[in-house]
Amino acid sequence: MDRFGAAIAAVLRPGDVVALSGGLGAGKTTLARAIIAALGHRGEIPSPSFAIVELYEPPSVRLPLVHADFYRLAHPAEAAEIGLDDYRRGAALLAEWPEHAGGFAHEPGCLAIALKDVGEDVGGGRIAIVEAGADWLGRLPCP
Ligand SMILES: Nc1ncnc2c1ncn2[C@@H]1O[C@H](COP(=O)(O)OP(=O)(O)OP(=O)(O)O)[C@@H](O)[C@H]1O
Ligand SMILES: [Mg+2]
Repeated sequence: MDRFGAAIAAVLRPGDVVALSGGLGAGKTTLARAIIAALGHRGEIPSPSFAIVELYEPPSVRLPLVHADFYRLAHPAEAAEIGLDDYRRGAALLAEWPEHAGGFAHEPGCLAIALKDVGEDVGGGRIAIVEAGADWLGRLPCP
């Protein structure tokens, strides 16, 4: 997770979305924290599961960053109601439960990562299935 997060952070740009899907406890926050730390943030990185949105600004990170957890949205339209477009302006978005916000896979800057805990029967650990939008061609993170 730390290496994968660092590889993403190294090429992340404003306007990008890293859409982190996977069930409860799949590792979405863990990967988001690895990205935020690799972008330069030092200290605690709260899970946005309660606040829904946590913001990070330079100089503590290399670029403006929105870390969101859309799990508690009752309807995708609530993403607009909380001002997501304003938060996103000039920033990269790390989105947990992206499908609760209507999904981002149609955006060329979307790096969709589906995490899965594969359990002990196949040696333990997590797998990540990555689908990249057109803006990611040539800069796919390979840890
Ligand atoms: N690669 C990993 N190897 C081992 N444990 C991990 C890994 N990734 C995450 N975990 C552990 O799994 C637990 C849940 O991880 P995390 O909070 O990142 O999941 P999540 O997908 O964000 O869950 P939620 O849907 O509740 O937000 C944590 O205890 C974390 O330490
Ligand atoms: Mg989480």
